Amino acid sequence: MKEKILKMLTNTQESVSGQQLSDSLGVSRTAVWKVINQLKAEGYQIEAVPNRGYKIIEYPDLITAEAVKSLLQTKIFGKEVRFYDEIDSTNMEARRHAEAHESHGMVILAEQQNAGKGRRGRNWVSPKGTGIWMSLILKPEFAPEKASMLTLLGALAGAEAIKDCTGLDCRIKWPNDLVVNGKKVCGILTEMSSEIDYIHYVIIGMGINVNADFFPDDICHVATSLKLEGKQNYMRNQIAAKILFYLEKHYEKFCNYGDLRDFVKEYNLLLINRGKEVKIIDSNHTFTGEALGIDSEGRLLVKDAAGQITEVMSGEVSV
Ligand code: BTN
Repeated sequence: MKEKILKMLTNTQESVSGQQLSDSLGVSRTAVWKVINQLKAEGYQIEAVPNRGYKIIEYPDLITAEAVKSLLQTKIFGKEVRFYDEIDSTNMEARRHAEAHESHGMVILAEQQNAGKGRRGRNWVSPKGTGIWMSLILKPEFAPEKASMLTLLGALAGAEAIKDCTGLDCRIKWPNDLVVNGKKVCGILTEMSSEIDYIHYVIIGMGINVNADFFPDDICHVATSLKLEGKQNYMRNQIAAKILFYLEKHYEKFCNYGDLRDFVKEYNLLLINRGKEVKIIDSNHTFTGEALGIDSEGRLLVKDAAGQITEVMSGEVSV
């Protein structure tokens, strides 16, 4: 019921009367009043005007399952959200769920991760109250070799959601880092459990620095938060819900075609490396060239000094 009341109050600029809330939810006025008090205790500032009703005038800086769900515009993604105040890693928790039961579209969110994982075995610092630490479980029917493209869809959805919710010029650094003013605000770790020709599950884990006020000296030249760049706090629930909205939309299209043909143009427009000299670092070698953009398989096309174009499948790019 809390989620529904929150949804009704969030979806309008007008006051909503206690009677309207109790009629639409089929509960008593007292039950509505109790939920309003719970919301106030959680930090929502709710104005109660006699004869008009309730209106949220300020949202707390909290990320909760109810708040994210109240903002969702999806069919499947996030219909089930598990929220933890503290956890080792949302990706690890997502794996535990994915292995235990049917959980396609389930979202795991945490206020704090104590063992957050980054790409290539690195760790991901995930302090309390400042970021979105979120993992989505997918059980796709396509072949395992296509799964790496989901990471690029995650990056696209993340960049679009950040742009919509903050107005910041959020760009993608291939394959899946999001940057604002040249510094990283979001990283994505996609993990998969599969057989040679069958996917058990894929976990898309996203870490977004939203309202962090500072970064330690060793990373502040490369990492930033939306708040540091936009000079204001942003609603984490809203950003999380928007990411799920875009990601679900893109995922449906992707499943139809089995490649990124519908996203190449949009992705390349947001690609910070495009037209720039990049250094590709992968397990075998390092080389430089001009990044032309991605192709429909998500490979980065890089032109070297001799004009030869290499399709880069994986690796890290330094601009
Ligand atoms: C990177 O190295 O850039 C990827 C970072 C991914 C971090 C996110 S936070 C939510 C999810 N849970 C994890 O343990 N990692 C991902």
